[in-house]
Amino acid sequence: MADVELSVEAGTATVLINRPDALNALSGPVMDELDRAVTQLEGNSEIRGAIVTGSGRAFVAGADIEEISRLDPESGLAFARRGQGIFSRIEKLDKPVIAAVNGFALGGGCELAMACHIRIASTKAKFGQPEVKLGILPGFGGTQRLPRLVGRGVATQILLSGAMIPAEEALRIGLVNEVVAPDELDGRARAVLQEILANGPHALKACLAAIHDGLASTQDAGLEIEAKLFSATCGTDEMREGTRAFLEKRSPKF
Ligand code: COA
Repeated sequence: MADVELSVEAGTATVLINRPDALNALSGPVMDELDRAVTQLEGNSEIRGAIVTGSGRAFVAGADIEEISRLDPESGLAFARRGQGIFSRIEKLDKPVIAAVNGFALGGGCELAMACHIRIASTKAKFGQPEVKLGILPGFGGTQRLPRLVGRGVATQILLSGAMIPAEEALRIGLVNEVVAPDELDGRARAVLQEILANGPHALKACLAAIHDGLASTQDAGLEIEAKLFSATCGTDEMREGTRAFLEKRSPKF
């Protein structure tokens, strides 16, 4: 059984982190498999969107603490850069990725969820960045993505306390988009993805690029990025079909 299972059905990929005995902790081998799964998401044109989830009672309970315990400054730098690199590739994907957070999303698990474009959580999910309890700080993007998602003050409290945050609290602070009953999680994540995928595929790519590149820029630079991407969507077959369908009072066929 693989530590990361990728399956594709009707254009939707499911990436299942599957090391339940260790609460799906991101060991080196798990990261190798995740890396390969992300390469598939990037390169397989049949895949139009993805759901990332975990098997058992965790989404991902962090990087593997046994491996972390052996890091020195040099290997720690490589470790952080590797995790950051894989997660940034998820964030930069030009197809929507939804984290279906089924349980513990701690440390690297919270960071993985934050690298996804949308987070839907089960009521059983618990979030947190407990790295400071181990004498380290988050190394897979947590100190950067969390403040951007929930604001500096709330993020600072989460990062410095290492406290565990229940799903409802994660919803209140904007860390997740929705919270649903555990048995509704998979269906809801798929329904949200289907709603998105019914829209113009080039428009979706352009939106994801505008959000990603704009957030990495000043607002003025982001507006310029938006204007150029808007311009690139104008006059396309997709735009003609979308606008004509509206005017003809029918659903568009993208
Ligand atoms: N790395 C390696 N192994 C981990 C792990 C991690 N991040 N998180 C959990 N595990 C392993 C445990 O060692 C245990 O293995 P064992 O059965 O061989 O002893 C197994 O997963 C189950 O975890 P356990 O701690 O027994 O479950 P619990 O229900 O009592 O507690 C947690 C669940 C999530 C609260 C607890 O496992 C935990 O705090 N994990 C670490 C979270 C963390 O600090 N993540 C950030 C890492 S940088």
